[in-house]
Amino acid sequence: MSIALVIPDRKLDQLQQKLQQQLPDVLIEIWPDIADPAVVEMAVVWRQPAGCLVNMPNLKALQSFGAGVDNILADATLPDLPLARIVDPMLTQSMLQYLQGVVQHYQLRLDEFSAQQRKQHWKPRSPRKIQRLCILGLGELGQAAACHFLQLGFVVDGWSASLKTLPGIQCFAGDEQFFAAVSQADVVICLLPLTPQTENLLNQQRLSQLKSGAILVNVARGAIVDDLALLQSLDSGQLAAACLDVFRVEPLPSEHPFWQHPAILMTPHISAVTNADTAVAQIAENYRRSQAGLPLLNLVCQQRGY
Ligand code: GLV
Repeated sequence: MSIALVIPDRKLDQLQQKLQQQLPDVLIEIWPDIADPAVVEMAVVWRQPAGCLVNMPNLKALQSFGAGVDNILADATLPDLPLARIVDPMLTQSMLQYLQGVVQHYQLRLDEFSAQQRKQHWKPRSPRKIQRLCILGLGELGQAAACHFLQLGFVVDGWSASLKTLPGIQCFAGDEQFFAAVSQADVVICLLPLTPQTENLLNQQRLSQLKSGAILVNVARGAIVDDLALLQSLDSGQLAAACLDVFRVEPLPSEHPFWQHPAILMTPHISAVTNADTAVAQIAENYRRSQAGLPLLNLVCQQRGY
């Protein structure tokens, strides 16, 4: 009986230790150092190299080490097994803290003042009016963000693939309601899952439907935004600014124009990082469930992609 941690480019000793404490009788191994692939029954995966699970014939379950699973489903050789994702209050908390900080950053015009500082310009201005927000994607994190900003006193609209009902939030769904959802928002926050339907969703045509001077925040996946269209919208002034935590390619290649763009604030995919302590309990519970033949917690619908 063993669990394989297949999370390249990450130090996994602590995760291994903590999981071992929860499951003392199970061998926890870090890929690629797997003594006997035939005894691996669960794989904890994140950006796993394609094909690395095919020699594990007795796998019963897959557990994503993050909230999104697009990078896992992108592996065409992924075994056809139940896949669970992390749903973690700590991860949600860190996302809300990030988003609130970003909205305040723009309210206080810290973007403008920081540009002024570089030019030694002294030009006081009153705060930017940010009253209405639109959240794209009303899943776990999107709903939490919508409720959080509603409580802070913002007017909040939400848009998702299928219509949701959330108290106090005007909800829209589908392509035909996209304009109604975004056209009045001062800030549009993208929390959509990346699926074939959402890839390049924020293209030139949809970005042009945002209110003139709006701010776009992308904390979902880079490939949801058409990079060139975003640059054009910023250069034309259609969008005032963009805050990006996620990118098509991560780390963002050094020659990418986002790095130098004055209206783009970038962070290196840190808005909501899986917390090993809370994730371990979910992984252990899902391992026990898979052993007992019970459905996994936070199961992903692989056809839908989230
Ligand atoms: C991070 O991006 C995650 O999906 O957990």
